[in-house]
Amino acid sequence: MDKIKALKNKAIEAVKGAPSLGALKVVESRILGRNGELTEVLRALKNLSEKERKEQGELANKIKIELVDLIKTRRNELEKIESEKDLKAERLDVSHPGVKPPQGHIHPLSLIIKEAGEIFNRLGFTVVEGPEIETEWYNFDALNIPEDHPAREMWDTFWLKEPKGKSKLLLRTHTSPMQIRYLETHNPPLRIVVPGRCFRYEATDASHDTHFYQLEGLMVDKNTSAANFKAVIQTFLSKILKRKVEVRLRPSFFPFTEPSFEVDVTCVQCGGKGGNCSVCSGTGWLEMMGAGMVHPGVFKNAGLNPKEWQGFAFGMGLDRIAMIRYKIPDIRLFYSGDVRFINQF
Ligand code: PHE
Repeated sequence: MDKIKALKNKAIEAVKGAPSLGALKVVESRILGRNGELTEVLRALKNLSEKERKEQGELANKIKIELVDLIKTRRNELEKIESEKDLKAERLDVSHPGVKPPQGHIHPLSLIIKEAGEIFNRLGFTVVEGPEIETEWYNFDALNIPEDHPAREMWDTFWLKEPKGKSKLLLRTHTSPMQIRYLETHNPPLRIVVPGRCFRYEATDASHDTHFYQLEGLMVDKNTSAANFKAVIQTFLSKILKRKVEVRLRPSFFPFTEPSFEVDVTCVQCGGKGGNCSVCSGTGWLEMMGAGMVHPGVFKNAGLNPKEWQGFAFGMGLDRIAMIRYKIPDIRLFYSGDVRFINQF
């Protein structure tokens, strides 16, 4: 008898404490199922004496009815709780702020290429592109750099395996070959800029990599002067560096321009004051690009009469512009694929 009562108390506790419909079902089958605790008691009655069977049978059946009832009540309760929970989970709060989908980032070099193109567009220049694999002719010879010219050392490069009987191929060392290619197929007057990837065989450091981006510029007309160049390039640099800058031309040498210049811009850090500025090492100037007046030989090689046409050309490193504009200390960061870097743009 005591065993049955203990079973009853335990069962009542379990039913009342069932936390979910699923748990209640488990409790129910543990007590009333085919091999349930109470079912076993009822089944064992037949082994008892008649008196005991009567007493225990009555009690067990009473408990069974009570438990069935109790389970029903608990089930109703749990059904109510669970359906309320479901409703709450399904409720749509239309005023809840949305979840922002993750967005890609435009690479800082792509940003500069796009912006440079837009600035030059407004100055009347068309943006064109050329091949990254060039022939020896376009990259060197047509630009007055024959095979034995010491200037070839300035542009040591990656040569490709030679196709039989064809001219030698290489990864272009600058965007200048597009001067020739474009002049061969277009009649001046013209103004173009050529952004693109270039390659050089050299040791890497914070400001040199084996690949980088250049922007070539070419303007050809009947009367184009170095003064025109200075005005164009000062406008461009002020816009792309987002501040008023001064430009200075220093004499230099390139085989495909005559005269040739090195173009400096007032330091973006100290504004040209120098002193102990670390960005310009106290000079007040930053070297920005090579440039010059188009060499007569270049016109000739492109099939144009150098007596008829004049022009200026320039080639600047876009990585350098991006580094100055965004204060990036190492060129190799552009090509590292490190998302901590890219995600800042
Ligand atoms: N191609 C030269 C370089 O890569 C730059 C340059 C371009 C100089 C056009 C003059 C004119 O160094």
